[in-house]
Amino acid sequence: MFKSVNGILHVEDVSVTELAEKLGTPLYITSKSKLESNLKAYKDAFPEAGLLYAVKANNNLSIMRIIAKKGFGADVFSAGELYMAMLSGFKPEKILFNGNSKSDEEIRMGIRTGVKFSVDSIDELYSISEIAVEEGKEVDIAFRINPAIDPKTHPKIATGLRTSKFGIPWENVLDAYRLALELPNVIPVGIHCHIGSQITELSPFVEALNRLFDIAVKLEEMGIEVKFLDLGGGLGIDYEGKGAPTPKDFAKAIMPVFEKRCRELKSKPELWLEPGRSIVGDTTILLTRVNAVKRSYKNFVAVDAGFNLLIRPAMYGAYHRVAVANKMDMPAEEVYTIVGPICESGDVLAEDRKLPKVEKGDLIAIFDAGAYGFVMSSQYNGRPRCAEVLVDGSNWFVIRERESFYDLIGKQVIPDFLL
Ligand code: LLP
Repeated sequence: MFKSVNGILHVEDVSVTELAEKLGTPLYITSKSKLESNLKAYKDAFPEAGLLYAVKANNNLSIMRIIAKKGFGADVFSAGELYMAMLSGFKPEKILFNGNSKSDEEIRMGIRTGVKFSVDSIDELYSISEIAVEEGKEVDIAFRINPAIDPKTHPKIATGLRTSKFGIPWENVLDAYRLALELPNVIPVGIHCHIGSQITELSPFVEALNRLFDIAVKLEEMGIEVKFLDLGGGLGIDYEGKGAPTPKDFAKAIMPVFEKRCRELKSKPELWLEPGRSIVGDTTILLTRVNAVKRSYKNFVAVDAGFNLLIRPAMYGAYHRVAVANKMDMPAEEVYTIVGPICESGDVLAEDRKLPKVEKGDLIAIFDAGAYGFVMSSQYNGRPRCAEVLVDGSNWFVIRERESFYDLIGKQVIPDFLL
């Protein structure tokens, strides 16, 4: 889906140099068929599981619509994500409202919409119960447990550690379920955890799944019918070309454990997963143009996208493959560091990469930018956000317009005394 044709990078059948000329740069470009093949890989690997796309990874409406149309549900982490998920066509009964700090307003919106909740604290449980009574509705809930498991990933995206802010310590969670049974209008039906993101070792998932079953067995003894066990998201992708487990590998690791441990229960729960990165990550490139090449203490390539548009390298030291999109057939000759236009020395997109000779005007493609790319962008340094394009075969569609200077100031208000 990303290939070189006569030395020019193509997304499906569309040349990125043509897109850059027509639409300008920077540009996020997504391959529809790559997205669809990722969705199929999950459906094939987990034909019976509840698959909830983690909206936080990429909330472009067109992209989410493709995902919703394939029958996926959604994991949302805020009222705004819920709003966007509903607009994209996700069905409320297939939406789980996650989040460790939901406001009463957000809870009310979720209850009115008819979604299920993953409850992160006892305070939240009381709020949901009270608001559900006010709204005259019954709400299906799961508790998010803190499973105290090391997912062996970057510390900033490890969420299942004992010290993490997420979830209720698994040792205490039975008390939370007991309380839920006593409170009106909340019905405990599930157990949820999410141990972290960009996880490439499968054993922590198995450990977490076992934790969920240990709790499920106890919940049945309390008379609760467990309808779903939600293992969260987190499956990593192959950013560095070193290999990463596929959904099929993931299924091979966890499904035998799931089937075996279901035998300990009277009624069989559904397995739910919340993949984000492994659905959208490798579907998208960020295309950026070279403004200057500078030979300093290093060879710097200064491009027109920086951590304002892709914060992952600056924030997590993340590695993204890069290529000179208009020189795909030329041999790598020199080592370059690709830097953005932001006034901070941390604005480095890729360090010490061997590339063909880079010149002003060349295009650099940054791969695997579909997850936590545009969604984490900002207008820092007065830079309007860039456009997004969806490619389908030889057709392409602008799915988000480039922002204008007006978007930098549109919501600002100048008090009268300054006019
Ligand atoms: N479910 C929950 C409750 C989550 O918090 C997350 C991600 C997911 C599912 C999806 O995880 P995934 O399958 O995408 O790994 N900005 C970071 C990643 C933050 C992940 C936050 N939670 C990054 O760029 O690496």
